[in-house]
Amino acid sequence: MPRYIKTSPQLNYVPVSLEALRIDSVLNFDLYVQVDRNKLSLYRSAALPFTEATMRRLIEHGVTTLYIDGSSRKEYQIYMEENLAEILRSPDLPEAKKASILYDTSTELIRDVLENPTYGENIRRSKNMVQNTISYMLQGREAFLNLLRLTSVNYTVYTHSVNVCTLSVALAQRLKNADQKFLYELGIGALLHDIGKARVSERILNKTTALSAMEQEIMRRHPRWGVEMLRETGEVPAAAYSAVLQHHERGGRKGYPDKLDMHEMHVYGKIVAIADSFDAMTTERVYQKAMETYPALKLMHTLKGHFDSELLREFTMLLGPDGEPISTSSETAE
Ligand SMILES: [Fe+2]
Ligand SMILES: [Fe+2]
Repeated sequence: MPRYIKTSPQLNYVPVSLEALRIDSVLNFDLYVQVDRNKLSLYRSAALPFTEATMRRLIEHGVTTLYIDGSSRKEYQIYMEENLAEILRSPDLPEAKKASILYDTSTELIRDVLENPTYGENIRRSKNMVQNTISYMLQGREAFLNLLRLTSVNYTVYTHSVNVCTLSVALAQRLKNADQKFLYELGIGALLHDIGKARVSERILNKTTALSAMEQEIMRRHPRWGVEMLRETGEVPAAAYSAVLQHHERGGRKGYPDKLDMHEMHVYGKIVAIADSFDAMTTERVYQKAMETYPALKLMHTLKGHFDSELLREFTMLLGPDGEPISTSSETAE
């Protein structure tokens, strides 16, 4: 007798795409199917392997979305992370679907990281995620564009971290000297660049009015706190720290925490500063409307000396229609 649960599927149950489940893998979570608008039925318990026959039967019945109980979110997340490399290589999955799985899995991971930032296992999971992101993006520009299309207009620190990682790695891929080690160190620093915000109170992080001098002072500690946290775990190569420490530095000693000049900044810091500013400008915040891509790039070009000009030019090309140069007012003025 099937076990029916009367619920709104959107309420306590999380949709899972059938295509993301790997055949013959052990799922540590129960799967539910929707039987009518407000009813879910237990389809497969966690104890049973997910076989090809299971998959075929579901496809024959036109099922593309299954549900998991919200309380199994953690198990599902770990399953996705462990199978991500295989999912991203699968010839059966459309590229856009792969990008959305990568994006969602990354975002959920960052949620866990910020909840428990000094837990070594969370940082190890982040390293695995960065490796998967780099392999995926090395497929070419289309992979990057697929990820870019998913960029949420609404800001959350989770999606922001994923966006900054994607943009930083994509920019670095255009540089001649960026080998695998470069991409990896930069990528992990970029993904975790705001990890120090875990120490800033929710009240300050979510404040919709201007921060007081004291609150600003606390907020400005997050790059240093981030490095302290990473050092504590000992999981991340020290070279990646500069991406975290310097992402709010601006050339001409206009940034923080160390008021560095451009020539004192590490290339990882310079790259993440560009990706971070761009993403901050192009996402919607309570106190700010999201800017479109080109006005944001133009504004960045007008902030003379804030960003490394060579890297900013590459970044502008990266976001141009075909990865080719696009004209910005300051470029023509130069
Ligand atoms: Fe930051
Ligand atoms: Fe940031």
